[in-house]
Parts: sequence; C-alpha cells; structure tokens
Amino acid sequence: MLALPLTLLALAATGLADPKPPALTWLYSVNITFAAPIEIGAVPTGNRAILTIVGGSFAGPKIAGKVGSGIDWGLTDAKGTFSPDALYTLYTNDNATILVSEKGHAPGVQILFETASPKYAYLNTVVAYATGGPSEAGVSLDVWQGF
Ligand SMILES: *[C@@H]1O[C@H](CO)[C@@H](O)[C@H](O)[C@H]1NC(C)=O
Ligand SMILES: *[C@@H]1O[C@H](CO)[C@@H](O)[C@H](O)[C@H]1NC(C)=O
Repeated sequence: MLALPLTLLALAATGLADPKPPALTWLYSVNITFAAPIEIGAVPTGNRAILTIVGGSFAGPKIAGKVGSGIDWGLTDAKGTFSPDALYTLYTNDNATILVSEKGHAPGVQILFETASPKYAYLNTVVAYATGGPSEAGVSLDVWQGF
C-alpha cells in the first residue's frame, strides 16, 4: 500500500518518468552469401555496387530455412558509410516464402517483411533491425524484432 504513493511522489518530484525502452526479441540469425560484386562505381550519390544474393541460411527460435535470391544495390558515401538497400527472399523449412527488404545506413539497418503465409503473417507488421557485419562470403546478421 505504501509503495505506490511513494513512487508517485518520486515521479512528481522529477517531473517525468523515463520512457520504458521497447523490448527487442531475437527473430533469427542469417548468413547471406553474395556472388562477386558488380561495381557500378562513382555515381552522383556515392559509390554504387550491386551485391547479388545467391543463398545462405537462417535460424531462430520460431523460424528457420534458406536464403533465396535477391540483390543489395547499396551505396557507400564519401565518408565511407555503407547504406544497404536490399531485397531478397527467405524460404522457411515449412515452405513459406518471405520477402525481405533491408534499408538503412550501417550500422543502423531496418528490415521489413512481406508474406502470404498465415503462419508467418505476424512478420507483416514487424519492424526489425539487424546487427552484424561482413563475413567470409557475405554478411552475417542477427535480426531483432522491435515492434
Ligand atoms: C552462420 O555461419 C556461422 C559461421 O560459419 C555458423 O556458426 C552459424 O551456425 C551459421 N548460422 C546459420 C543460421 O546458418
Ligand atoms: C515442403 O515442400 C517439400 C517439397 O515440395 C515437401 O517435401 C515437404 O513435405 C513440404 N513441407 C511442408 C511442411 O509442407
């Protein structure tokens, strides 16, 4: 009975409560394999290269499967910041196809999903973000569900 009024008093004293940070849930980790990059070179907005996504695999607590195909036509700016812009497919072990779009300015990368699978429909409203970086033949990312 005493705890709540004391908390309220503390809030009144400081003015505002700190907003609660949103929880992040691990969706999956993914290894994406690229073919040899196609260099477009210095374009007005930076240095453009096309990375063709040719495969890979992903696994998490509720989802796993293979990476399909796609491209990342990312841009590297004058300061060396890489801005990925990728579109590729994931094929789950239970045969759902999920379209993934990945955009941002490294290391901040946002991921959105599109799928017609009822089982994975929850991904259609998820905003995820990725941590990770280059690996031997591509990139390795941990993908986190924000909302
Ligand atoms: C990704 O590659 C690493 C290193 O080879 C491996 O340990 C990991 O199991 C792979 N993850 C997936 C989801 O394939
Ligand atoms: C996925 O498709 C393969 C090949 O058509 C089939 O053998 C397998 O049973 C399917 N799995 C599920 C869970 O539907």
